[in-house]
Amino acid sequence: MDQNWSRGTGKKWSGPVEVQMCQSILPCHANHRGELGAGQLLKWMDTTACLAAERHAGMACVTASMDDIQFEETVRVGQVINIKARVNRAFNTSMEVGIYVTVQEVLSGVTKRVCVAFSTFVAKPTGIHKVSLKPLDIQGSVEEMLEYSLASERRRLRLYNEEAFNNLMKDYYNLQDKGLCSRKPVTAVVSTELTRVESIELVLPPHANHHGNTFGGQIMAWMENVATVAASRLCGYYPSLGAVDMFRFRGPSSIGDRLVFKAMVNNVFQTSVEVGVRVEAYNCEEWNEGTPRHINSASMIYYVPGLDGRRKAVYWCYCQEENSHGQVISLQTSENSIVYIPRCLKTCQILNCRKHILYSRDEGPISVPWDKSNQVYLGYNNVAALTVLAGERGWEASNINDKIGLYVHEEANKLCLKVEMKIKTTAFHAFSLLADLRLRPQWDKNYLSCEEVEKADEEETIYRIECTTVKGSKSRDFVVLLSKRQPCKDGDPYVVAIRSVTVATVPPDDNSIRSEVKCAGFLVHEVGYSACKVSYYNQVTSGVLPYVEGNLAGWSKSMEETAMSCISFLENDLLTTEF
Ligand code: COA
Repeated sequence: MDQNWSRGTGKKWSGPVEVQMCQSILPCHANHRGELGAGQLLKWMDTTACLAAERHAGMACVTASMDDIQFEETVRVGQVINIKARVNRAFNTSMEVGIYVTVQEVLSGVTKRVCVAFSTFVAKPTGIHKVSLKPLDIQGSVEEMLEYSLASERRRLRLYNEEAFNNLMKDYYNLQDKGLCSRKPVTAVVSTELTRVESIELVLPPHANHHGNTFGGQIMAWMENVATVAASRLCGYYPSLGAVDMFRFRGPSSIGDRLVFKAMVNNVFQTSVEVGVRVEAYNCEEWNEGTPRHINSASMIYYVPGLDGRRKAVYWCYCQEENSHGQVISLQTSENSIVYIPRCLKTCQILNCRKHILYSRDEGPISVPWDKSNQVYLGYNNVAALTVLAGERGWEASNINDKIGLYVHEEANKLCLKVEMKIKTTAFHAFSLLADLRLRPQWDKNYLSCEEVEKADEEETIYRIECTTVKGSKSRDFVVLLSKRQPCKDGDPYVVAIRSVTVATVPPDDNSIRSEVKCAGFLVHEVGYSACKVSYYNQVTSGVLPYVEGNLAGWSKSMEETAMSCISFLENDLLTTEF
């Protein structure tokens, strides 16, 4: 309980609010295999997160959504789980809460991660008015500051999620209209109709939270229950929940509501099945009129655990028909030959992309394939990587003067550079000029030219950059995604993030060496009136090294010269454009 007090000063501290729940797993929490039911875990996660949110808000809060979750570890009777929930960031009326679940083996003390999830809670004061939440004053650890910075990008993603799926469905029906997507079923062994499950629940006081609303965790647990039945009907076995694609609480329900849960298998993959669940609510009057309120939908991925602990393959064929969302589902013909309709491929692509982009901090390939349908996730990945790089501690100054500071960060195989510049112009002006990469040849002598390849939208643009030759070799070219973001709140920086992508229309050519940039870009901070600090970051790759190695070795001052040229470009451009 000392977290609300600044360490040692005795003053109130409004940093991240953390709440913990610890549960010993008893048989009453477990299924017939002695494993903790996912529904029970979701209830505990939602309760812990809600209490963290309400502690920050100082008032009642409701669950708006819970992002994708991957369950990494099975929890068994006799083990102890620990759930930590921390408010990562407060926006206007909503907050992001990070939930970290670990399991501990009592006898050995070994602790493993079960899952990480991010929930959004909305403050609900009594009455109809909305409140503005107090911002989080982040003075804490590197990790807290990082989560704070990433929370605004994750928020963009979750608000985009629904639109993305609607667009995918539109694309799919367009393909179907053009006859590019066959609906002819193959020989069916199991009809998905057999997996259809419908179940009703009456919301009673024990199912409601302390405000009389149906408790979000209880709704998720009921959803998991019907989804498990649907999956087991297809598998003919007891499946385990592996992942959930975002729970979104579209509207409230309360005591006395009848909740109807509908589940059905949507897709079959080689070792997993995807079940769609939809929840509709009726109150007593609506019940006979038949006008339900759609209050939640989610997709859940199940797998069948084998005796050796590995996942068993799901070898079933089933016919193509409408699923629980009124969408056409996939076909599976045999063990190794799976026919997917475009919607399924795209759904997989998005789920996989979200999984890797949102949760993986591992080193991946440098260039990622550019795909318009994944634009938001690639943009997130781009901005998040730069935010993580900028949040690194331990930058060593290699050269500092009045206007410029050069810093190096070295860790394992990773070498990163930072150049800080003090500029006499507004942050917005500097950002506008730096975010247009076509202007860079005007101040960076390594850039021969830069052309715009594709403008995906106002914030994401693809460029091809041609750079100078180094040491007599051919010139180098880069194809990059530039993602730009304006501050979400006062005090946030303007962000210009750059990373390599592969684009089919811009293949490598014989005249230059196609090179890659992993993570680079600018953060621009407002400093007082009409002045700003521009920080340039670059995680050095083999493609970038030839341009900076002289500086690292100390026999070149080209980075300082480029920085001076950048300062003069940003400051003088203000003069030419404003006067
Ligand atoms: N995921 C995350 N945040 C979301 C969201 C989603 N799917 N949909 C809306 N929000 C956020 C908005 O970004 C906004 O945040 P901000 O004020 O910080 O900018 C906030 O929610 C309010 O958005 P608004 O559009 O004004 O509200 P709304 O009328 O759509 O209501 C809920 C949002 C969540 C309050 C409403 O849908 C609701 O009551 N849902 C049911 C909640 C519930 O019963 N939960 C389970 C029991 S606790």
